[in-house]
Amino acid sequence: MTSVALRLAVAPPTESCDSGLAAPTWDFDALTTYGPGASVDDAVPAETTNATTRPGQLPQAYRDADEADLYRRIEVAKETLGDRVVVLGHYYQRDEIVAHADFVGDSFQLANAALTRPDAEAIVFCGVHFMAETADILAREDQQVILPNLAAGCSMADMADEDSVEEAWLDLAEAYGFDPEGSDDPADYPGGKLPVVPVTYMNSSAALKAFCGRHGGIVCTSSNARTVLEWAFERGERVLFFPDQHLGRNTAKAMGVPLEQMPMWNPRKPLGGNDEATLQAATVILWHGFCSVHRRFTTAQIDKARAEYPGVQVVVHPECPMPVVDAADAAGSTELIRQFVADAEPGSVIAIGTEVNMVNRLAAQHPDKTIFCLDPVICPCSTMYRIHPGYLAWVLEGLVAGETHNRIEVDDDVARHARTALERMLAAAPKPLTGSAQGAPAATAATGSAR
Ligand code: 13P
Ligand code: SF4
Repeated sequence: MTSVALRLAVAPPTESCDSGLAAPTWDFDALTTYGPGASVDDAVPAETTNATTRPGQLPQAYRDADEADLYRRIEVAKETLGDRVVVLGHYYQRDEIVAHADFVGDSFQLANAALTRPDAEAIVFCGVHFMAETADILAREDQQVILPNLAAGCSMADMADEDSVEEAWLDLAEAYGFDPEGSDDPADYPGGKLPVVPVTYMNSSAALKAFCGRHGGIVCTSSNARTVLEWAFERGERVLFFPDQHLGRNTAKAMGVPLEQMPMWNPRKPLGGNDEATLQAATVILWHGFCSVHRRFTTAQIDKARAEYPGVQVVVHPECPMPVVDAADAAGSTELIRQFVADAEPGSVIAIGTEVNMVNRLAAQHPDKTIFCLDPVICPCSTMYRIHPGYLAWVLEGLVAGETHNRIEVDDDVARHARTALERMLAAAPKPLTGSAQGAPAATAATGSAR
């Protein structure tokens, strides 16, 4: 089991994207910002209503415990709790967390995985804040969803706050001449189409999912963005896509939408930085958001990989900029990347454009293939990285003692509307559960998953 921390200990700090990553775990945890390797210039947006990062809080005893002790305590707590708890782990989690997860998967799979355990009293979500919120929205009312470290937000999700999106909606209503609180039934509009369909990436607050639910919109993930956009274009003239400009642009471009019909909406500028004519010609309006982990990938890295390894296959996440996606051999969600590697012939050389914890794990799982990260420096998602085993031990031992720490609860009214948008997504893109059960042999697991 090799963690990013361990790799950093053996690599000179110049090989990580920020020397802060080499800081001791609990010093890193005390940072009040997103921390090194994040985005928004490493600062929580000052005026957002949904900034999700907060400094971690963990009793000292858990900080003092060593890795082996924490491993054992987590296992004992899980065994004591049995079916009362389900632990979900995103592919970007560190190995020390993935080792304890009942399901490992991408954001779509994990949203589904939670639904398969309606009898569990608690869902411990080892991922980031928006994933835990989504699980709470979809969970049974009395199920508790726990995010082990409340500082595990997503800087991209925080780039679209509710107030800014509401303001953009008012501007668009004026530009296209519709009632911003009007009907969300396409039949009530000329040509049977809504003027604008809001589409939010899963990486967004519950409030924005609710916004989409209230305005005839929908949620997408990186694994179903195209299906969701097809749904949206059946019902509307154009789409407002937030917060990730890259996923929106890459998906719409692959569907044949010309780039000149995809203006950017910068919430800090009047009319998003557009003129009326640009908006009238727009098919997809892209919010000015991005993931800085994925923004680091470049076509120069791909050129270098192809020069050094003739025959290399390049697979990237669609949060990467468009030129990178265009230059790659394949692009898709973390699950697609896992499957791409699993399907490759022994001896294949694969360069990957996604978060380094997942890439390192795939490399360890496929010693018969040469697998490396396109980014030559180590730059993990610093918010995913905040789920340390100390936190997992703390929340699980809390449950054993009858105490709930770090419960994520979405307000009922927000949850109701957000569920509408999520259910539209689930209906538009029906997909079987593909996360695998911890410890289940490959033949009996729903499918394999990267661990
Ligand atoms: P997936 O939907 O592929 O799991 O991606 C989530 C994410 O946050 C990528 O940065
Ligand atoms: Fe958010 Fe990027 Fe981290 Fe994914 S990798 S959780 S988009 S900051």
